[in-house]
Amino acid sequence: MKHISTTNILIWGGILIFIWNESFELGIPELDKQHKHLFEVGSNLHELIDRVDYEDVYDDIISHVEELKEYTIFHFNSEEAFFDTYGYSGSNMHKVEHQQFIDYLDGIDLSQVDANQQEALLDLVKFIAKWIFKHINDSDSKYAFEIKQKQNSN
Ligand SMILES: [Fe+2]
Ligand SMILES: [Fe+2]
Repeated sequence: MKHISTTNILIWGGILIFIWNESFELGIPELDKQHKHLFEVGSNLHELIDRVDYEDVYDDIISHVEELKEYTIFHFNSEEAFFDTYGYSGSNMHKVEHQQFIDYLDGIDLSQVDANQQEALLDLVKFIAKWIFKHINDSDSKYAFEIKQKQNSN
């Protein structure tokens, strides 16, 4: 399938794909490293799209979603610790966004996934990719801007 480049993201078969580029860079090395890893985990889930037409990938979907959830929670906790350290002004709203994403992952109906793997996998990858890209570009960029200013003024 063809890769189509848009402004800062790549689309493959109509779905955003997890390929890192500098537009996602916040300039806070520890958190950039975590975002890159989050992309890798997302990519593992995306790659199942190649196989779902031909084979049962239920166990892989479940394990990659589980991995994504664990790493996401670790990453959100790291960001929130940064907010506390630097007294980030948008902390409360940002934490609500994090919680909403965890709730989404928690709320995935596994019986539905098994019954219709193809559609369920596409829905999952679409939602997760869109959420992560938007969250980093919008919400994470905001804290990065404020926290870097605070770091520089110390
Ligand atoms: Fe983040
Ligand atoms: Fe965040």
